[in-house]
Amino acid sequence: MLLGVNIDHVATLRNARGGVEPSVIRAANICEENGGTSITTHLREDRRHIKDADVYTLMKTIKTKLNLEMAMAEDIQKIALEIKPHSICLVPEKRQEVTTEGGLDVDGQLNNVTEFIKPLLNAGIIVSLFIDPDKAQVRASAKTGAQFIEMHTGRYSEAFGTDSEEKEFLSLKNSAKLAQSLGLKVNAGHGLNYENVHRMHEIEGLYELNIGHSIISRAVFTGLPEAVRTMADLIK
Ligand code: PXP
Repeated sequence: MLLGVNIDHVATLRNARGGVEPSVIRAANICEENGGTSITTHLREDRRHIKDADVYTLMKTIKTKLNLEMAMAEDIQKIALEIKPHSICLVPEKRQEVTTEGGLDVDGQLNNVTEFIKPLLNAGIIVSLFIDPDKAQVRASAKTGAQFIEMHTGRYSEAFGTDSEEKEFLSLKNSAKLAQSLGLKVNAGHGLNYENVHRMHEIEGLYELNIGHSIISRAVFTGLPEAVRTMADLIK
């Protein structure tokens, strides 16, 4: 399994003072030097953390792969088509939410999603759809032309260590299996941390985990190199 490190919260900290520290570019470099196999950023419509300039500079400076999380918004699609990241991950976005809550409803808007990702696929950008581990969403995703799904692990992460852990874990495992049988590659992420990540090894064929909050939080105490290296070792 590979580790995509989400560095949005480095930008959150930087924006708290409106200056240039800490540098998201330096953070991306450190993540790459310590086992991160891709750098993930979410260019939100309200630009609350990552800004346009960050994405342009990251695209020029990172040595691994840029995975751009984005909503179905035309202005962001335009930026993606201009910079051509290695991949994009289509996520739902609500202005008031603290973070991405729930997966994209691909099943309920199959035509819209299919049409929206067409130009991105035509430009050679790999497309991933961030969905809940739900069979209808997996089946719909397989009809869009996207190559990947990213399973939302939020419910599993919240249930970890409780009576509902097994149920939430099985949703992930079964959805991954179904997706792979339909020709999709499978990533996962959201809420994964140093305690709950180990069960991802029980899901066969998972390609990459995208992890942000727990790594950046740990880095406050241990430094970013240790935080990334330890997570990369756990999922290797
Ligand atoms: N994957 C997606 C699609 C996300 O939106 C996020 C959160 O930005 C993550 C992964 C990472 O989640 P976390 O910060 O909880 O590790």
